[in-house]
Amino acid sequence: MKSLKSVSLACAVLALSTASSHAQKWEHLADTPQMGWSTWNRFQGNISEDIIRGIADAMVESGLRDAGYTYINIDDCWHGERNADGFMQADPAKFPNGIAAVADYVHSRGLKLGIYSDAGTHTCGNMPGSLGHEYQDAIQYARWGVDYLKYDWCNTRDINPRGAYRLISDALWAAGRPIFLSMCEWGDSYPWRWASEVGHSWRTTPDIWCCFDSVRVFDGGAYSQFGVMQCIQFNDTLRRYAGPGYWNDPDMLEVGNGMSESEDRAHFTMWCMMASPLILGNDLRTMSEATRNIILNREMIAVDQDSLGVQGLHLCDRNGLQFWFKPLTCGRWAFTILNPTTTDITYELNWQDFNFTDEEVSRLGTGFDSTVYTVYNLWSHKAEGKTSLKNKTDRKVTVPGHDVVSWLLTPKAAKSRK
Ligand code: GLA
Repeated sequence: MKSLKSVSLACAVLALSTASSHAQKWEHLADTPQMGWSTWNRFQGNISEDIIRGIADAMVESGLRDAGYTYINIDDCWHGERNADGFMQADPAKFPNGIAAVADYVHSRGLKLGIYSDAGTHTCGNMPGSLGHEYQDAIQYARWGVDYLKYDWCNTRDINPRGAYRLISDALWAAGRPIFLSMCEWGDSYPWRWASEVGHSWRTTPDIWCCFDSVRVFDGGAYSQFGVMQCIQFNDTLRRYAGPGYWNDPDMLEVGNGMSESEDRAHFTMWCMMASPLILGNDLRTMSEATRNIILNREMIAVDQDSLGVQGLHLCDRNGLQFWFKPLTCGRWAFTILNPTTTDITYELNWQDFNFTDEEVSRLGTGFDSTVYTVYNLWSHKAEGKTSLKNKTDRKVTVPGHDVVSWLLTPKAAKSRK
């Protein structure tokens, strides 16, 4: 018979191995997709403490913070060198007071601070990576008061992605401060299949660039960047993998960085329809009124942030238009018609053509043959009648090129939340 000592030792070993095989991540940081701003799309490596402070101020004064944009994320190229003990320091020319001072300022404005690192030897901008320093870096971020880590995937030859992201997730857990983990390995190892217990969001695409519909290729195809339409097309296939706590990330927003107003509107709408992270990428200090109106459309933001947490469905294509539906709480639906072409298209809408049940994710159905919905235009902010139970053309809709028409449909019996 085994002694009590050897039995309890076996139990302890079992408990330990069970504990270490179960990933632990900070919960409830991503019940809805994260919202914020990042340095990368607009500033790349030309960043500084002054820019971060200015953006934090603009975030508050423009009303963006109160609309839900919380994180101010410092992307690549903030780095100086590791000190004698191996702890990473910020570039003293860009951040003369260090990251902790920036975190304090950002927190004093009611916002949160994000930082960036990479699982490899070096970041994509050739700064020191976290390889071999994962626990040390996590401790440093926690000490500084960081709230969000974007973890990139450059210079990771021979590293196993599952192991690498699990390692940093464990390190963030051990460091003891709740830090959001935004995984950025561009979908190469299908993170949607394995990362829901490791990170809070994962990139599904290569980098976005400020263009509605084309791929930009570098180094003979070694590296490419996607336009808005390519990001949508790819992300579209992954809706069953997203939900409260873990989101598909088709990359940061390019609204306000040079596309036309209608393209910016379509881009923003589709990110909301896909329950994507809303990480702004424009200069908030100098943005136009048109940009402000797009990113501050609270009714559209509510579509993204709906607590049901279902990524929208690309139901069908007709007459060159794409028809997207996103189920929302209280029996409501967001319904968007996207025009991916450059010419205006008019469509005769019969609600009965869109009776369907979302079998793949929510199991909810539109039931246009039995439920009447009020129709509210999410961009003109006007009521536009109601759906019809009859099998007939109900209305003619013109969707301009590279633009959307987007409606909130509320069942007539249910109380509107507004
Ligand atoms: C990669 C990421 C980008 C950005 C840059 C920084 O390309 O995908 O989002 O963080 O690195 O160098």
